Amino acid sequence: MEFLISEGYDGMSRSAADVVKSVIVDDPSCVLGLATGSTPIGMYACLVKDCKEGEVSFKDVTTFNLDEYVGLPGEHDQSYRYFMDTNLFDHVDIDKARTNLPDGCAGNLEQMCAEYEQKIQDAGGIDIQVLGIGHNGHIGFNEPCDDFPVATHPVDLTESTINANSRLFSDVSEVPRSAVTMGIGTIMKARKVIVLANGDGKADIVKAAFTGPVVPSVPASVLQLHPDVTIVLDSAAASKLDI
Ligand code: GLP
Repeated sequence: MEFLISEGYDGMSRSAADVVKSVIVDDPSCVLGLATGSTPIGMYACLVKDCKEGEVSFKDVTTFNLDEYVGLPGEHDQSYRYFMDTNLFDHVDIDKARTNLPDGCAGNLEQMCAEYEQKIQDAGGIDIQVLGIGHNGHIGFNEPCDDFPVATHPVDLTESTINANSRLFSDVSEVPRSAVTMGIGTIMKARKVIVLANGDGKADIVKAAFTGPVVPSVPASVLQLHPDVTIVLDSAAASKLDI
């Protein structure tokens, strides 16, 4: 597990974008696993800039997002499809047909999840998975639980996540109560993983997840068992680590 610690949000974003960019430059037809949330917005802005400046091309890249809310269509401004379009896909030379998110409006969610998992495999697996981390240690929408969920699956969100994400909705009652997420097994199969976190508010969970015991009550802790993980932090999020 490697830690990259930068000054401030901009430093973290640049550093994370450089890791992703180098994967694309090494293999222009790579498969990216992507995340939403406030944390990676700056990283996406750096990648957009790099693409506009001709340093990287998404022309042959395929993407799979981690998760999506249940019941929000892609046009909804809080859907993760909308987030990805507005923060990255609309501003780079990617072929939108190669961008994949779980369909939170599918009639049969279980079947959609199985097909999503298969599609990742058919694409050759994920070369690099980008992750943020929730305050309770969730990755994607894998909430603290008794066992690490293996594959893409529907999930009920915890009150902690609903409250945290309510800042983006006009009222907490509008936050969907359920979502669809890649499983911990899906994430662990990615060949490389980077986790981004910034700010004091993430310092405790960063310490618990990456220096504490590996337990399903802190889902991100499982990443300690992955052979190629880079944790990209600003100094505030890193402030409780003894490294
Ligand atoms: C959300 C997303 C996660 C994200 C996390 C942290 O619920 N499903 O993928 O990593 O919460 O979000 P933020 O980066 O806004 O702190």
